[in-house]
Amino acid sequence: MKRTKIVDLVHTAEFDRQVCVKGWVRTRRGNKNVAFIALNDGSTIHTIQVVVDVARFGEEFLKPVTTGACLCVTGLLVASQGQGQAAEIQAETIEIYGTADPAVYPLQKKGHSLEFLREIAYLRPRTNTFGAIFRLRHHLAYAIHDYFNRQGFYYFHTPLITGSDAEGAGSMFQVTTLDVAHPPKTEEGRIDYSQDFFGHMTNLTVSGQLEGELGAMALGGVYTFGPTFRAENSNTPRHLAEFWMIEPEIAFNDIHDNMNLAEAFLKYVIAYALKHGKDDIEFLAKMYDPELIDRLNFIIDNRFVRLTYTEGIEILEKSGRKFEFPVYWGVDLQSEHERYLVEEHCKCPVILTDYPKDIKAFYMKQNDDGKTVRAMDVLFPKIGEIIGGSEREADYDKLMTRIHELNMDIDSLWWYLDTRKFGTAPHAGFGLGFERLLLFVTGMQNIRDVIPFPRTPKNAEF
Ligand code: 4AD
Ligand code: MG
Repeated sequence: MKRTKIVDLVHTAEFDRQVCVKGWVRTRRGNKNVAFIALNDGSTIHTIQVVVDVARFGEEFLKPVTTGACLCVTGLLVASQGQGQAAEIQAETIEIYGTADPAVYPLQKKGHSLEFLREIAYLRPRTNTFGAIFRLRHHLAYAIHDYFNRQGFYYFHTPLITGSDAEGAGSMFQVTTLDVAHPPKTEEGRIDYSQDFFGHMTNLTVSGQLEGELGAMALGGVYTFGPTFRAENSNTPRHLAEFWMIEPEIAFNDIHDNMNLAEAFLKYVIAYALKHGKDDIEFLAKMYDPELIDRLNFIIDNRFVRLTYTEGIEILEKSGRKFEFPVYWGVDLQSEHERYLVEEHCKCPVILTDYPKDIKAFYMKQNDDGKTVRAMDVLFPKIGEIIGGSEREADYDKLMTRIHELNMDIDSLWWYLDTRKFGTAPHAGFGLGFERLLLFVTGMQNIRDVIPFPRTPKNAEF
């Protein structure tokens, strides 16, 4: 008999028909005569109740039907007598696909701490919480592609292995096939990368932006959506060593177009999640964060406040607040500063623009004041920076001057500089941290809980 997904049964009104469901036992209750099994197959946060006449199957047969076991059940779908569910199945056949010995299966009870579940990340998708989070992750990924496709952007695949450092931050994972214990040396005693796989030094990308710009200079509007890697040793609830980033890049856009795009895009994907992930968001709100749904609706309904960095610093200086990190013009804002602006002063998402050039990357368009660049960061409640972006410096000479000022390695960037020589154009783009967006939409507090297999310092086992 063909399997029906549980999601298609929990809200059905078509009863008294034969169904077949397959899934994992969440709980088993009952007595000597009747057993109630809550079965979940991952298609929904909800379980379907299977009612089992113990005498029909025998106590011995039903013994291994414990939490975590996997079953195939056929039977009659009927309107439920009990509370909390519309439908239940009166079991007629049960096949046990796999048992889960209660003596060793780690997910016995409900209500394990998120910290404990992180230690068994290979099993945690089977919990209600992580099922909800990973379904939402899917819905948001889909919404992102949907948004850009509707707007006429092309999905442009940028490389994961690169020879350049897009952000100039130097925190990269090296990629090599050289024998790290005995690398070949040049006559001067340095490692001879000409013998490495690619003939020069390579690393995992920190951003697809530079290659994305090449795409925008040909296709007009492109976006990337892929993993990025940063070897920063920042053990915070908002940083991962491997995270997914969405980077649109658009020819002929200036910073205002860029802000409008970022705002419309975030509103679209959050509204999509509210609509298509409703049950999961409601579950997370109930379990972890009663204000979650209001916060999501607030983003959709309100215009983001736009301020310059200089205005932001003035607000922080006048706030009378003692911050852990001092505030002055030129400082790189910490999340406590960003959150003060968003949560306490503006009470609204904020787009901060025109940052000092010294705290931003080399590629940003330089303002006439000689001090600031056309940067824009989108700051969200609870999260701080969720998007970083800018209008790009399209002028070859200005870009070269900046690269020299920063002592950057031109040999690995000549191809990027060529875009400014051959048909350069004003353009802009930004990067959205996918897991930061997920933190916001799920109400989770720790970024390790919104990616199936988090990579953080000292943690890449499974
Ligand atoms: O601000 P960032 O470093 O900007 C860039 O990489 C640009 N190339 C983007 C562009 O203009 N195309 O990173 C962009 C976003 C941040 O706002 C943040 O949401 C996220 O990426 N992010 C991280 N997320 C998780 N873990 C980390 N270590 C992150 N670093 C940045
Ligand atoms: Mg940034």
